[in-house]
Amino acid sequence: MRDPSFRRSLALFRAFMREQTEPEQCYGLLARDAAQQVEQYQPLKGTTVVDIGGGSGHFTEEFRRRGAQSFLFEPDMSELLAGGRRPEGAVLADGYLLPLADGTADVCFSSNVLEHVADPQTFLSEMVRVTRPGGLIYVSFTNWYSPWGGHETAPWHYFGAERARARYRRRTGREAKHTLGENLFAVHIGPTLRQVRARDDVEVLSARSRYWPFLPGAITRVPGLREFATWNLLLILRRCPQ
Ligand SMILES: C[S@@+](CC[C@H](N)C(=O)[O-])C[C@H]1O[C@@H](n2cnc3c(N)ncnc32)[C@H](O)[C@@H]1O
Repeated sequence: MRDPSFRRSLALFRAFMREQTEPEQCYGLLARDAAQQVEQYQPLKGTTVVDIGGGSGHFTEEFRRRGAQSFLFEPDMSELLAGGRRPEGAVLADGYLLPLADGTADVCFSSNVLEHVADPQTFLSEMVRVTRPGGLIYVSFTNWYSPWGGHETAPWHYFGAERARARYRRRTGREAKHTLGENLFAVHIGPTLRQVRARDDVEVLSARSRYWPFLPGAITRVPGLREFATWNLLLILRRCPQ
């Protein structure tokens, strides 16, 4: 599917709405879409790709299907084994401290992990460290003021994280999976863009909305509005040659 296009965004949105009941279809589609986005910058065949916080491995599998040597790094065993999956060749490891030498990866990939770490800048620095000079870094995250910022408690997070959690508990009889300040953090687009642009070890090739159907790069240039309308920020970075 062409990116950006209404057809693609609609297909992704529909798949996302069925994430709970049809996770294989949802994450399979998302993985094919993300791999296609990477391939707009770098063919995957023959490359080494590391997927940080890759969950149960859909993205890693898609990279392998496209001819890459791909390795999954995930710190949470229950995420790795979610849905009864047993991803091959996965490494139980934290993204802050990857068991990889400097410059190992042609592509360092991370989808929807940055908002789950307390120190996104350190996480990003580790991604840069393991990427070879000239290699590609794909990092996307849902920012806090996105309509989906509160994850399963969204959009009620706009009225406060605690209130949103209490509402979720009342409605479902369960605790929400994410707690602000524990495993979900309020990451914002403006500060993240400023921090990334201030680095001298990466070049920003693209800063865009990951799912937006038209002008995905334009929305991220409008301060204020971008915090609500981007939904999910996708950064494509090139590690600078040393
Ligand atoms: C929302 S899931 C995203 C999974 C997958 N990347 C995707 O896009 O579907 C967030 C993932 O980040 C992982 N994660 C949280 N903290 C992490 C850390 N410090 N290092 C690496 N992964 C981490 C979680 O275990 C979880 O698998």
